[in-house]
Parts: sequence; structure tokens; C-alpha cells
Amino acid sequence: MKLLLDTANLADIRYFNTYYPIEGATTNPTILSKEGGNVLELLSSIRAIIGHKKELHVQVTETVCDKMVEEAEAIVAFLGPKTVVKIPITDEGLRATAILAKRGIDVTVTAVLTAAQAMLAANAGAAYVAPYVSRQENLCADGVGTVAEIVKILDSSNVQTKVLAASFKTAKEVLDVAVVGCHTATVSAGTMRNLLSHTTTDTSIARFAEDWKKAFGDVTLLGLLKNK
Ligand code: E4P
Repeated sequence: MKLLLDTANLADIRYFNTYYPIEGATTNPTILSKEGGNVLELLSSIRAIIGHKKELHVQVTETVCDKMVEEAEAIVAFLGPKTVVKIPITDEGLRATAILAKRGIDVTVTAVLTAAQAMLAANAGAAYVAPYVSRQENLCADGVGTVAEIVKILDSSNVQTKVLAASFKTAKEVLDVAVVGCHTATVSAGTMRNLLSHTTTDTSIARFAEDWKKAFGDVTLLGLLKNK
């Protein structure tokens, strides 16, 4: 399952883009509002960090189809190749998605809570549908199960649409959607860290270093190979 970083924080994007195998970054109006300041400069900076080979997902703020389309085209013109426009799942959004897909603009249909919504988005030509996992799990609904249903529907249909699961609060939820065949997920910096970290990994690594040092001192294998 491919991973994107769900943030507009430049320090986090710089860090995870350097160290982690991420395919890009996703934003929404709430995420952008957390950083504040000049939003166009912020989006340009994100693009500069990740380059043009990775995806940057940016959500429209207009709510009527014609304006959404105009805004989406302006976003792509501003941020260039590999920009994906996020459009919320509404009547107007579905129509805008169909128009943009025909014009070759990739759309992530967002704020998806049901498999029925995802099916409509896929039929409209969305590149991705973004089901919200934690926002369902928080209400005792089966967020992971919804992702599984959507994966099944899309993989057995004649559509190119991929599932971009979003809204995670735990690393376990991310792993759970990977297990049910989800294509892509976008996760926060904290959850991304939790996917990697494990105290037993830390103690194992510390033990390797300790045992090596006891036997061979401060030299490294690289040092020995260079001086052989
Ligand atoms: C993607 O960008 C979604 O908008 C985002 O994952 C929603 O996450 P939240 O439910 O934590 O706000």
C-alpha cells in the first residue's frame, strides 16, 4: 500500500520526504488552516520540497460545480504536474469530478463515508476516493470494513479509481486497511512515526551495538574494510 503524508507542515514534509518512502502529501482546508500565513506560498513550498514526481493533493474551497472546476484548473496551473484536486462528495462535486476527469485532471473525491458514495465517485471518473476511517470508527462504525467494501467494488469494476484511505488516528487502522487491499493511505506525521517505531527494535539495535563494541571496540565494519 502506497503512503502519503497528511499534513502541510513544512518541517514534517521535509523530514518524511527525506527519510520515509512517501509518494506525496495531502492537504485539506483544516490542515492548511493549522499552518496559517500565506497559503499560496505554503503550497508552493510543499511542491518545492516534494518535487514534481510526487503527488500534492489540494482541496477546492468553492462549492458550486463551475467554480470548483475553475478553481481546480487554477490549482493545477499553479502547482503543476502531479497535482491532484480534492473535491468533496456532493452533487456539485460529482459533476465537477466528471468534467475535470474528461479534461485530464486527477481528482480525489473526499469526505467519503460509505461504499455507495465511493461507487458514485468512481463512476464519475475520480482518480481516487478517500474514505475517512477514524471518523467512522469514532462513531462505532466499521471504517476498515467500509474500505474493504470499496476496494472490492473498485477492483471488480471497469474503473481506474484507487482507494486513498484517510483520517487515521492509529497505526493499527493503517495496517488494517493495508491488509484488506487498500491501494493508498494518507497518514499524519505522528501516525507515520508509529508505523515505524517499536521499543523492541530500539533495544535490539542497542544490543547489536553493545555486543559489537565489546568484541571489536570502536571500529566499524566500514573502517575495517577501508583499511584492509
Ligand atoms: C485527507 O486529507 C483527509 O481530509 C484527512 O485525512 C482527514 O483527517 P481527520 O479526520 O484526522 O481530520
